[in-house]
Amino acid sequence: MTKSWTTQSADETMRVGRELAAMLQPPRMLILRGNLGAGKTTLVKGIAAALGDATEDDVTSPTFTLVHEYGGGGTMLYHLDLYRLEKERELDALGIDEMQRNDSLVLIEWGEKFLSLNARADGEIALEHAGGDARTITLRLNQ
Ligand SMILES: Nc1ncnc2c1ncn2[C@@H]1O[C@H](COP(=O)(O)OP(=O)(O)OP(=O)(O)O)[C@@H](O)[C@H]1O
Ligand SMILES: [Mg+2]
Repeated sequence: MTKSWTTQSADETMRVGRELAAMLQPPRMLILRGNLGAGKTTLVKGIAAALGDATEDDVTSPTFTLVHEYGGGGTMLYHLDLYRLEKERELDALGIDEMQRNDSLVLIEWGEKFLSLNARADGEIALEHAGGDARTITLRLNQ
């Protein structure tokens, strides 16, 4: 299934994230695809808040740590940013297999760089600049 939204501000993207959270029953692993500054991390803020795992302010970019983990709301949320990762084999050290449990949602920024993640993902959320502050957000679920 595919569903799209257009937003005009970061707040609106967080609101779409809240709506998305209700559509993303775990277990699921999704690639968050989009250019630098497209709004991937902003979207995760809304998802985490809706799940009750963190406030929007708590969610920050896992740029250096690669993985942030949020829990407490029933669904575990793993938020990865693989921009700085270069090699497919460096993925092993992250333990993505262990993150994929029945109660977890794994959201991976820059995951499309890696063949094995493309193969394993249950779909993607693509964010695209659409002029100024506008963004189009498209959810594509494989099933
Ligand atoms: N409609 C919008 N949706 C989301 N963010 C927006 C929007 N309009 C403006 N922004 C701004 O764009 C930036 C998006 O940053 P964010 O960190 O979410 O991007 P990102 O896709 O995670 O980038 P990166 O690949 O660098 O991690 C924020 O500064 C946000 O305030
Ligand atoms: Mg980001």
